[in-house]
Amino acid sequence: MTANEARAESRDGRGFTFRAGPDDGVAPGDMVVITAGEGVRVLGQVVDLVEPVGDEPLTGSGVVIGSLDAAGALQRSTRPSFRHAALELAVAAELGGLHGASAGTMVIGSWRTGDVGADASLRAGGFNRHTFLCGQSGSGKTYALGVLLERLLLQTDLRMAVFDPNADFVHLGSTLPGVAEADARRIGERNVRVLRSDSTRTENDEPLRMRFRTMTRQAQAATLQLDPIHDQDEYNAFISFLAQIGNQEVGAMLLGLRSGTPGQQSLARRMENLGLLEWEVWARDLPSAADAVTGGTGVTVMDLGGFGDPSEPIAVCLEVVDELWAQRDRRVPTLLVIDEAHNLCGTEPASQVAERLLDRLIQIAAEGRKYGLWLLLSSQRPSKIHPQILSQCDNLMLMRMNSPDDIEELGRTFGFAPKAMLRASNGFVQGEALLAGGFAPVPMLVQVRERLTRQGGSDVAVPILDT
Ligand SMILES: Nc1ncnc2c1ncn2[C@@H]1O[C@H](COP(=O)(O)OP(=O)(O)O)[C@@H](O)[C@H]1O
Ligand SMILES: [Mg+2]
Repeated sequence: MTANEARAESRDGRGFTFRAGPDDGVAPGDMVVITAGEGVRVLGQVVDLVEPVGDEPLTGSGVVIGSLDAAGALQRSTRPSFRHAALELAVAAELGGLHGASAGTMVIGSWRTGDVGADASLRAGGFNRHTFLCGQSGSGKTYALGVLLERLLLQTDLRMAVFDPNADFVHLGSTLPGVAEADARRIGERNVRVLRSDSTRTENDEPLRMRFRTMTRQAQAATLQLDPIHDQDEYNAFISFLAQIGNQEVGAMLLGLRSGTPGQQSLARRMENLGLLEWEVWARDLPSAADAVTGGTGVTVMDLGGFGDPSEPIAVCLEVVDELWAQRDRRVPTLLVIDEAHNLCGTEPASQVAERLLDRLIQIAAEGRKYGLWLLLSSQRPSKIHPQILSQCDNLMLMRMNSPDDIEELGRTFGFAPKAMLRASNGFVQGEALLAGGFAPVPMLVQVRERLTRQGGSDVAVPILDT
C-alpha cells in the first residue's frame, strides 16, 4: 500500500475506521481529510491505531469533525457517511478552517499533526471553566503556564489572581527585549501588581499582607487553631469576646484578652504561643492582598515565599479566596491561577487554615463557574490534587508524564482526551503538550511558543571561573 491508498469508512458520519499503509505515517491526533464524494471533503481526527500483525495493513479509528466547504470553512453540522473514501493527512490550509469555526485565536504554540506545522490556537473564551495543567517536574509546566497567562493578558480583560509558590511570575508585567511593541505596550498597560514578603521584595513590588479583622469567623478560628469541640472553652471565649467588642486585628485583640476572663486569658496565651503577633503578614496600615485582587479587574501575582511561618502564605490565600467567594454575586470574570496546586488543593491539608482553604477551593471547583470564578491549576500528578477539584476540570494541558498509572488516571478523569494521545505524553520533550477539552478546537499535540516575559525571580547563576 502506498501513501495515497489509505481508505476510510463511516456509517454514521461521526466516527470512522480506516486502513492505511505503514508509509502513510498516520499517528493518533493527526488531522486527516477524507474525500467522501465528488467535492465532499470531510475533516477528521485519528484517535487510535491498531498495531498491524505481520504485513496486515495498519488500521485505526477516528472522529469526524465536520466537512470543509469549497472556501475551506469548516461546517461542523455537515457530516456525511462514506465508504472506501480516500484519506490523506490534512495540510495547513485545511486546519485553518478548524480554528476559524471554533474561534481559536489564542496562539499558544505550534501544532504537530502529520507532517504539518500549524499554529495551535486555543479559544480564549474556553477559560470559562476549570483547567488542569499536568506534567512531571521539569516538563515545562511553569513556563507553559506563563505562556497561557501572557496570552490571556494580551487577549482578554480577565481578572487574574496568581498564587505563585516559587516567585516564577514576579516578572509577568514586564516584557523581554525584542518583544513586539504592541504586545509590550498591552502587557505594560495591564499593570500587573506583584505582592511579596519583606525578604524578597524589590522596589517595584508591594507587600503581601492580610487582615485578621476581615477574615471569616471560621478562618479566624482556624488561624488560632481553635476547634469548636476540642477547645470548647477557648472557642467560646473567642466568639463571645468578638461578639462583645467586634472584629479586631490580632494586636488589639491580644491586649483585650490579656485582661479578660480566665477563658480569654487562656486564648491570649494561645495567640502568644502560636507567635501570631510576630507574623509579618498582618497588613496594619497597608492594603491587603484581598483588596488588591478584588479592588479592580487587574492581575495580581502573589509570591508566597519568604515568610517566617508556613501558615502565613496559606492564611493570605485563604483570605483572598474567601473574599472572592464573598463577592461572587458581582460575577467579575476571574481566573485563580495556582502553580504547584497540590500545595493548596492537595488531599491532605497540613493545618486547619489549609483545610479551610481546601474546602473553599472545592466549593469554587463545584460552584464557581456560575459566578465567573475559574481555576487554572498546575501540578505534577493527578493523584496529588483533591479528586473533588480534579473531577471538575474540563480543560487539560498535559506535558511529559512517565508514569503509566498517572496516564491511566488522567484517562479516567478526562474522558474527552483520546487515550492514545495521553499515552504519547511519555515521549514528550520539554515544552510539548497535549491540549484537550473545551478550550481546544480538537485535542492537539503542541510545542508551546516562546515566553514574552522572564520566568523566575531569583535565578542563581553557577559561579564559573575565568580560565
Ligand atoms: N518551552 C520551553 N522553552 C524554553 N525553556 C523552557 C521551556 N519549558 C521549560 N523551559 C525551562 O526549563 C526549566 C524547567 O521548566 P519549568 O517550566 O520550570 O518546569 P516544571 O514547572 O514543569 O517543573 C525552566 O528553567 C524553564 O525556563
Ligand atoms: Mg514549575
